[in-house]
Amino acid sequence: MTHPPIEAFEPMLSSATIAERVAELGAQINREFQGQELIVVGVLKGAALFMSDLIRCIDVPLRCDFLRVSSYEGGLKSTGVVRWEFDLTQTIEDQNVILVEDIVDTGLTANFLYESLLLRRPRSLKFCTLLHKEANTRINFDLDYIGFTIPNRFVIGYGLDLDGKYRNLPHIAALPVES
Ligand code: IMP
Repeated sequence: MTHPPIEAFEPMLSSATIAERVAELGAQINREFQGQELIVVGVLKGAALFMSDLIRCIDVPLRCDFLRVSSYEGGLKSTGVVRWEFDLTQTIEDQNVILVEDIVDTGLTANFLYESLLLRRPRSLKFCTLLHKEANTRINFDLDYIGFTIPNRFVIGYGLDLDGKYRNLPHIAALPVES
């Protein structure tokens, strides 16, 4: 698959804007979990950059874990089916858990993950997403921490990919709208 050159993408969120918002989310989490411990669960691969910046803004004791599911198979549209690729390495029973996603689009992945982790009886389960394509989303629970609400555009950078590429961009940009 060939991809547009990076200059063709429309800048949406600069690295400074992202860093400022990530620090605010970290401060909010610190206030809400003062005196408690956390397990922060990143959804790979997209949330890797966001998660690594976010946990450095959190100062309550925490453990990290990761899981991976897939619903996109590399393209622009969800396949409609969520598949486990790998699971957590520790129990979350009776723990405070924050699930960290890069983006909530239709909400299919978010619903699947939220319901799957709830069955494991955490003490609390919060959902944190860097980006929210609100107009598209149908979910059965509240998103607790949202970095940015964005329009219904396909975005790349800061962990988000198109066919595996562009994750390393420090900012977030939108795929050009076809004319
Ligand atoms: P959902 O299940 O439709 O909410 O999609 C969630 C997953 O789709 C995210 O974790 C991303 O991996 C992927 N995704 C959705 N929208 C985008 C986008 O604009 N850029 C890159 N990946 C996206």
